[in-house]
Amino acid sequence: MTPVDAAQRTPTTQPESMATGKTMGASRCELSRVIWRSNENMFGSGKGTLILELVDDVAWATAARHSDGHAVTVSVEAMTFFAPVWAGDIVSARAQVEGTGRTSMEIGVHVDAQRCHGTGERERIAEAHLVFVAVDDDGAPRPVRPVHPETDAEYARHRAVAIRREHRRALAAALSEVALPAPR
Ligand SMILES: CC(C)(COP(=O)(O)OP(=O)(O)OC[C@H]1O[C@@H](n2cnc3c(N)ncnc32)[C@H](O)[C@@H]1OP(=O)(O)O)[C@@H](O)C(=O)NCCC(=O)NCCS
Repeated sequence: MTPVDAAQRTPTTQPESMATGKTMGASRCELSRVIWRSNENMFGSGKGTLILELVDDVAWATAARHSDGHAVTVSVEAMTFFAPVWAGDIVSARAQVEGTGRTSMEIGVHVDAQRCHGTGERERIAEAHLVFVAVDDDGAPRPVRPVHPETDAEYARHRAVAIRREHRRALAAALSEVALPAPR
């Protein structure tokens, strides 16, 4: 690599990149997998844990892309299944960073299935929302750059994150008034 190439490839300094942020599209990520007969539960449909694993994997990938390093799942905030998956389906999960805090990233995930028998159209089978925290080599939280929405849909998702955070605060405040017993 020539000195010029090396200079061009050197990332911008940390403070500058933190200030400029990153677009939502820049770290968007999609992962797919096939559902096999061996993945069926006792009722013949695909096990939900397969989808959960795919969702966590794709959310990690987008969080790592956005934060340029390792990140950990701190919360699976919502996971909704709309339809079952079956052997032969190709399941694809698409994730994006929809909001950022100081060290945390709010990740939205959409999961579609392309049916083995059918028109080949993708059907939405699940949605999820997770929170990841960027961590350093010691596992301590590290700052992330802000995410910037660009399209109307991305602005809507960005606003939805603010609502989720407000609900989270309100829920924590309400639960703090209840003497919840520790799980046995
Ligand atoms: C994630 C972790 C590093 C956070 O450490 P911590 O000491 O709680 O750090 P903080 O209190 O500073 O919180 C860090 C961020 O996480 C957010 N956070 C913490 N708990 C949260 C929760 N339950 N839901 C949403 N966000 C949460 C905080 O709001 C903060 O966000 P911000 O910096 O954007 O404001 C630590 O809890 C951890 O290592 N957890 C285990 C993660 C893991 O192993 N996941 C995989 C399980 S197999």
